[in-house]
Amino acid sequence: MRISTFSVIVAIVGVAVGLRAQDFKKQVIYQVVTDRFFDGDATNDNPAESPGLFDATHTNWHAYWGGDLAGVQQKLAYIQGMGATAIWVSPVVNNENLNCGGSVVSAPYHAYWNRDFMNVEEHFGDNSNSFAALDALVTAMHAGGMKLIVDEANNHSNPDNCGENGALYNQGAFMASAANDANGIFHHNPDIGDFNDRYQLQYLTLDDLTDLNQENSTVDAYLKGAAAQLQAHHVDAFRLDAVKHVTWGWEYSFANAVFNNAPSFLYGEWMQTNTSDPLYADSVKFANRSGISLLDFPLNTAIRDVFGYGNGFQEIDSTIGTENASFTSPNDLVTFFDSQDESRLLTLNNNQNRLQEALAFLLTCRGIPIVFYGDEQYLFNNSTGSDGNPGTDPYNRVWMSAFDTTTAAYKIITKLAGLRQANDAVGYGTWKQRWISSDVYIYERQFFNDVVLVAINKSDTASYPVTGLYTALPVGNYTDYLGGLQSGSALTVTAGSGGNNPAGNFTIAPHSVAVWQVQANATAPEVGSIGPWVGQPGMTVTIAGDGFGVVKGTVLFGSTAAAIQSWSNTSVTFTVPSVSSGSYNVQLKNSVGAAANTIAFTVLTGKLVPVTFTVNNATPTQPGDYIFVTGNTVELGSWGTTFQTAVGPMLTPNYPNWFLNVSLPAGQTVQFKFIDIQGNGNVVWENGTNHSYTVPASGTGAVNVNWQY
Ligand code: NOJ
Ligand code: NOJ
Repeated sequence: MRISTFSVIVAIVGVAVGLRAQDFKKQVIYQVVTDRFFDGDATNDNPAESPGLFDATHTNWHAYWGGDLAGVQQKLAYIQGMGATAIWVSPVVNNENLNCGGSVVSAPYHAYWNRDFMNVEEHFGDNSNSFAALDALVTAMHAGGMKLIVDEANNHSNPDNCGENGALYNQGAFMASAANDANGIFHHNPDIGDFNDRYQLQYLTLDDLTDLNQENSTVDAYLKGAAAQLQAHHVDAFRLDAVKHVTWGWEYSFANAVFNNAPSFLYGEWMQTNTSDPLYADSVKFANRSGISLLDFPLNTAIRDVFGYGNGFQEIDSTIGTENASFTSPNDLVTFFDSQDESRLLTLNNNQNRLQEALAFLLTCRGIPIVFYGDEQYLFNNSTGSDGNPGTDPYNRVWMSAFDTTTAAYKIITKLAGLRQANDAVGYGTWKQRWISSDVYIYERQFFNDVVLVAINKSDTASYPVTGLYTALPVGNYTDYLGGLQSGSALTVTAGSGGNNPAGNFTIAPHSVAVWQVQANATAPEVGSIGPWVGQPGMTVTIAGDGFGVVKGTVLFGSTAAAIQSWSNTSVTFTVPSVSSGSYNVQLKNSVGAAANTIAFTVLTGKLVPVTFTVNNATPTQPGDYIFVTGNTVELGSWGTTFQTAVGPMLTPNYPNWFLNVSLPAGQTVQFKFIDIQGNGNVVWENGTNHSYTVPASGTGAVNVNWQY
């Protein structure tokens, strides 16, 4: 009796620690297209609310096929057995009910055509749109220490030209549709034509999807309320759909609202091809300042080019180098090579070794890896997708027809997901290229004395001599952590200096991956993570790492100590103290005062409220010039005058008037001015005294002023 009581308490404490959702760097995410995964409940296959959209034969790829939340729950052992610690499911909320096709049904099985963000889709849950199936899934996942990530599409409702024509509801109460919108719930603009135009991206329509007006206070409250409701149902994190198309400034306030509700992690879909994208700098600024991490699209392109199309490893290496220099927290970028929006890697190159090598790379790379459902079963379909290419949408959304736990891919994922838990270098470590050629890539991850060295040869036929390899691994003999699953061999390290030990001359076998690693006990506190990395006094934040000790120490913002909520050897949760806003290097010290490495955090002035700034008749600009706003709080860039520090660029659909939505501290009076940052970096200030504005305590705000000459 005593023993069982004790083990119940231990289990509960274990779950509570596991629930600190901010630290996602040790997670391995399994992405499920809910409709295509597993039919766990036949009673919701053809529901009364939206009949006739189901195809039991799985031949119409645009119909519902029966997968549901109960199905994900029934396959948790399979997913967890693979080492995944988090599951990203399709949007769970209610989708439009009517056929968007003709005699061949087209239905929102993908779940991105929402009609009511306040209840659950009947094909995924039950006929009363209740949260029961979601609650059951979350409860089962948390009992096993797993986290649920829900996809959230804040950009739009459903198509404006078929089915329900954009109709949006709040718990069943009609709000508006594309053609019936007295209250400005939607923007009513044409489809985006120029995907490099900041105004079009945010305010025009994405692929006929009725575009929500987030600056409308009703929409603002509705979208934040929908996220809050999912958090109240214990959803741990959100994948944010199409963040490039939602009003950027408003999203800062959305993130702030989510982080204030409960510990969470957010990552957004900012689609771009590579780091030369014209808006790459905008994506960096967005992630660094909003606290919303991003899906790593540039690396997605590079991995597909290298493992799918046969480009050299230099493309991956230079992409990571550029991104690591841009992003505040590259270890929080969410990495992937397959998704619901592109053909599978096996379509690009039907070579299972290459897929396994790509998986091994992804799981040891910096960033939080996503395994797309079915890759571990080598599933793909090469029919021609809607963009005219083989294997693309909808043929990448295959039916999960096998759950074999003995495939090589499943075993490699299991091994390396386990390494992410066991060795902090994978989740928290630095990134260093140690040896590179077109076919061979050897890279090292290091977190203090934890080291992981990975060597990949992606050639099917050629072995290569590796000479002059150095590593931070200590002197010794290392066996392949994968146990030869991908033909890896052993490594001998001899004595060198300065963290560079010679690792001999050896031959690396064709299509091989070897992983050599060492785990060291922390002898002093080592900080690897902070989450979120931006927030106002009062917000709950978690620092993770190792060697903190079990006795409570301190977390300092300058000389001010934060109130500690919980303290363990690897994770400390605290409340951001009442310090003045700005950038801090947060300092953790253990109970005897030993200091860890510091980690960056931005303290906001207050909770964020979205405010739309308009400046009329601004100074004339030349192409390449943009108007920005800058002001006296960290939210307004602390009087910064560069692209990354001032707020903007502002948008000018009615030149020479410019506008921009900016999230500002609730209830505070702020000072600001508009500036013209010219193409060459020169800055032209407007004249006169500072403008002043008092931000509303809640809701949304607007400022409209003339440029001062
Ligand atoms: C991106 C999603 O990944 C895609 O599948 C969806 O169709 C669009 N956003 C629109 O929601
Ligand atoms: C409008 C453009 O968007 C802006 O960038 C430019 O500075 C002005 N036109 C003047 O050419």
